[in-house]
Amino acid sequence: MHLFTPFECRDVTARNRVTVSPMCQYACEDEDGLADDWHLVHLGSRATGGAGIVMTEATAVTPRGRISPQDLGIWSDEHAAALESVTEYIASQGALSAIQLAHAGRKASTSRPSEGGDPVHGDSGWTPVGPTDEPWPHGDSIATERLDSAGIERVKRAFVDAAVRALDAGFDILEIHAAHGYLLHEFLSPVTNTREDEYGGDFEGRTRLLKDVVTDVREAVPDGTPVFVRLSATDWLSDRRSWTVEASSRLAGELQPLGVDLVDVSAGGIHPDQQVPDTGPHYQVPYAERIGESGTPVGAVGGITTPEGADEVIRNDRADLAVVGREHLRDPYFAIRAAEALGYDAPVPRQYERGFE
Ligand SMILES: Cc1cc2nc3c(=O)[nH]c(=O)nc-3n(C[C@H](O)[C@H](O)[C@H](O)COP(=O)(O)O)c2cc1C
Repeated sequence: MHLFTPFECRDVTARNRVTVSPMCQYACEDEDGLADDWHLVHLGSRATGGAGIVMTEATAVTPRGRISPQDLGIWSDEHAAALESVTEYIASQGALSAIQLAHAGRKASTSRPSEGGDPVHGDSGWTPVGPTDEPWPHGDSIATERLDSAGIERVKRAFVDAAVRALDAGFDILEIHAAHGYLLHEFLSPVTNTREDEYGGDFEGRTRLLKDVVTDVREAVPDGTPVFVRLSATDWLSDRRSWTVEASSRLAGELQPLGVDLVDVSAGGIHPDQQVPDTGPHYQVPYAERIGESGTPVGAVGGITTPEGADEVIRNDRADLAVVGREHLRDPYFAIRAAEALGYDAPVPRQYERGFE
C-alpha cells in the first residue's frame, strides 16, 4: 500500500490517500455563512491539484456554532444550495468532497485571526454555549451559556440536519469535528466538562454527546456514506486531569461499532495552558498510530509536507490517510507534485497535460 493506492470506504473510493485538511478561511465577508467564489476556487483548485479527498473548513451547524462571523455554515437549505457548485466541481475533477460539520462551543464569537482572534462582544457577536458556563479562559472572555438538556437535544438535531443538508449539497463524506477545544471536545475533556448529569462525570458520560451525535447522524444518512470523526488525541495538559491518548484510543474503538469509518487524529486546543510539543515533521503521526491500534482506521495530520513523508505514513501502515493542511495552502498541486516525485501516475487534469509531457 502507498500514497496513491485508492482508499475505499463504504460506497466511495478516493483516487489516492492525499486529503486536504479542514482549514477555516474566514472568508464569508457578508457574515452569512454562505459559500461564495472564494470557497469554490479554494476547494476546487485543491481538487484540480490531485488530492483524493478535499475537505471543507469547519462548517457551522448553527449560527452560534461559528468561530468567527466569517465562518462557513450549513444551517439552512440556502447554505446547502450555495455549496452545490463546490461539490460538483470537486467531483468533476475526480476527487471526493468532504465536509467538516462543526460547533465551536465556548470558543465561538471571536474575530478572525487576521483581526486579532479576540472575543467579539455586542451586536456583532453572540453568546457562546458550552458544557458549563465557564468561558474560554483567555483575554476578554464572553459570558458562556451552559447547555441544558433541551439545548443538548438542539445541538444533536443541528448536527443531523446539517448532515442531511450536506448530502443534498452533494458531499461524499461527512466529518464530525470533535477536536481543538470546540463543543464536542469540550464535552469529552474533563478540563471543560464538570457536569454532573448524564453528559458529564466519567468517560461514559463525557463521551455520550459525541456518541449520540454519531449515532443520530449515522441513522439519518445512507449506509453508503462514510462518517469520519476528528478527535484531539490529547489535551497536551499532562499536569492535570485531562483528555489523553488512552481515552482517545478507547473512544475510537467504541466509535467504529457506531458506524464511524475513520478517526482523523489531531491534538490540543482545549485550554490556553496547553504544552504544545515541537511541531516538527509528522508531530502528530504517533498519535494516529497509537489510536489506529484500536482497529479503527485513522487519518494522520500535522507536519506532513513532503511527498516522501506522506508516502511513508501510508507505506508503513501508520495511518490510512495522509491529511495535509498548510502545505496545501502553499501548493494546491501537492498531490500532483507528490505523484511525479514518487513515480506514480499523476492525477493531471487534461487541460494541463502539456505542462507534464
Ligand atoms: C488556516 C488554518 C485553519 C484551520 N482550520 C481548521 C478547521 O476548520 N478545522 C480543523 O479541524 N482544523 C483546522 N486547522 C488545523 C488543520 O486542519 C491541521 O490539522 C493543522 O494545520 C496541522 O496540519 P498541517 O501541519 O498539515 O498544517 C486549521 C489550520 C490552519 C493553518
